[in-house]
Amino acid sequence: MINSLKQASNFVLSKVEKFKIDKNQISLAIVLGSGLGNFGSKVEQIFKISYKEIPNFPESTVAGHEGALILAKDKKTKKYFWLMKGRVHYYEGYSMQEVVFPIRVLKFCGVKQLILTNAAGGANRFFDAGDLMLIRDHINLSGTNPLIGKNYEELGPRFPDMSEAYDKKMSDIILKTAQKLGIQLKEGVYCWLSGPTFETPAEIRMVSLLGADAVGMSTVPEAIVARHMGIKTAGISFISNKAAGLSSEELSHEEVGENAKKVEEKFSKLIENIISEILN
Ligand code: HPA
Repeated sequence: MINSLKQASNFVLSKVEKFKIDKNQISLAIVLGSGLGNFGSKVEQIFKISYKEIPNFPESTVAGHEGALILAKDKKTKKYFWLMKGRVHYYEGYSMQEVVFPIRVLKFCGVKQLILTNAAGGANRFFDAGDLMLIRDHINLSGTNPLIGKNYEELGPRFPDMSEAYDKKMSDIILKTAQKLGIQLKEGVYCWLSGPTFETPAEIRMVSLLGADAVGMSTVPEAIVARHMGIKTAGISFISNKAAGLSSEELSHEEVGENAKKVEEKFSKLIENIISEILN
């Protein structure tokens, strides 16, 4: 596994070198979730690599996930950051190792801070479609964990502490940035279920009782391995729909995409400013 990571990261870093950019200057990465990829076309792109080109990289099979790693430059601070446009999910049939492979590659490329974004169902009955939620913590209800199996000490410890999986400082910067922009940002707990089915109303009642505010099919594996490797992580969920049983509407991936279009502007403005604040 370590060799596969080195192969992939060497490939990515060779591109960075071609552009005469110091790899040590790229410390932040953002993963754009379902329907949120459009932000990628708004930033100043230095170069873009399709996941297909990167050795050992998994490819997304889901509509709305393009599958490209972009090196971008923040207009305000003139600093560089990585954008992962699209991710792969466990429900696509990928192993947990494959799901988290890109995050490990980013670590090998020198990334120290990570912002994970996703589309999620609102399990908190006070959440509406179109809301944005800062992830304060998560619940892993998938029954699996990306760190099951041999532990690679060079990546991190056997038993990682998860008491601050989502970095307080980064999260506070995100909240303050939202406040400054007048964008309402809810806060809450994200619960990961494997999918690909949306939940049943009974499952939503259960996760609400357990303390979840949002439910989704991604992010938690990435947050776990990021924590394992000492990457500071923050998360933002875009609430694409009220979760099952909380509204009369039928849930569909198309609805997720349509609602994402409605928040595109708000989300892009927020993420753009967060990047500048974090890199500042
Ligand atoms: N459940 C799980 N994942 C989701 C949902 C949902 O309601 N909406 C978007 N991703």
